[in-house]
Amino acid sequence: MGQHQGDCPGAINVVMLGPPGAGKGTQAERLSRTRKLPKISTGDILREAVQAGTDVGRAAKETMEAGNLIGDDIMIAIVQDRLDRADARCGFVLDGFPRTVVQAMALDRMVDGRGPLVVLDMVVPEDVLVRRLATRRICSTCGSNAAPDWTRACGKCGGRLVTRVDDGIDIVRERLKVYQRQTKPLVEYYGARRSFTSIDGNRPPDVVTAAVDAALDAAHEGSARGVTL
Ligand code: AP5
Ligand code: MG
Repeated sequence: MGQHQGDCPGAINVVMLGPPGAGKGTQAERLSRTRKLPKISTGDILREAVQAGTDVGRAAKETMEAGNLIGDDIMIAIVQDRLDRADARCGFVLDGFPRTVVQAMALDRMVDGRGPLVVLDMVVPEDVLVRRLATRRICSTCGSNAAPDWTRACGKCGGRLVTRVDDGIDIVRERLKVYQRQTKPLVEYYGARRSFTSIDGNRPPDVVTAAVDAALDAAHEGSARGVTL
C-alpha cells in the first residue's frame, strides 16, 4: 500500500474494530475531539438515514432492527462518499466500518496514498458486552449514548432517553453472532500489520482512552520515522 501522504504529512487514518458494545463509538468520539479528526460512524449515518426516511434509510431499517449487516456495496459507497469530503482529507476515525473482508479490501483501496491506516481492536468479554447493551440508553434526538449521570434527559440536547431499537437481548445475541461470523475475520486480515493494536476494552473508559492514545502516538512516531505501518 502506498505510504506517501501528499499535502497531509501527519495524516492518520484510524479504524475502531470490535464487537457490539466494545466502546468503539465512545472512544472514537474522544479521539475525534482530541486529535481533531472527523468521526465517521456508519451506524450513526444509517440511523440518521432511517430517521430522515431517505431511500438508504428505508432500505436499511429492517436489516438493522434484525441485527444483520447492510450490503457491502451500499456501505462502501457511503464511506467512499464520506471520505471524499474535505474534512477527511487529512485523517479520520472510522467507527463500525469495515465489518467484512470485502469492506476492508475496499478501504485499503480508498486510503491508498492517504497515510497509514491504524487499526485498534477493542477486546471485551461477551458477558460484559451483553450487560453494557442491556443497560444502554441513547438520546432519541441526537443519538448520543447516555452518560451515567443523565437520569432524565440527554445532557447534550435535552432529548428523551430511550433504548436503542437493536439493543433487545435477542437482537444483541444476533449481532454478536454476526460479528463472530463476518467481522471477527478482520482481526486476522489486519493482525499481521504493524499498525494493528489490540486494546483491552474491559477497563474504565479513561483507562481505555489512555491505551488508545498510546497506540496512536506510537503509530505517529513510526510514521514520522518512515516505518511502513
Ligand atoms: P453500530 O451502530 O456500529 O453498532 P455496533 O457495532 O453493534 O456497536 P455499538 O454502537 O452497539 O457499540 P460500540 O462498540 O460503539 O460501543 P459504545 O461506545 O456505544 O451498527 C449498528 C447496525 O448498523 C449494524 O448492526 C448494521 O445493521 C449496521 N451497520 C453499521 N455499519 C455497518 C457496516 N459497515 N456494514 C454493514 N452494516 C453496518 O458503548 C456501548 C455501551 O457501553 C454504552 O452505553 C457506553 O456508555 C458503554 N461503555 C463504553 N465504553 C465503556 C467502558 N470502557 N466501560 C464501561 N462501559 C462502557
Ligand atoms: Mg457505536
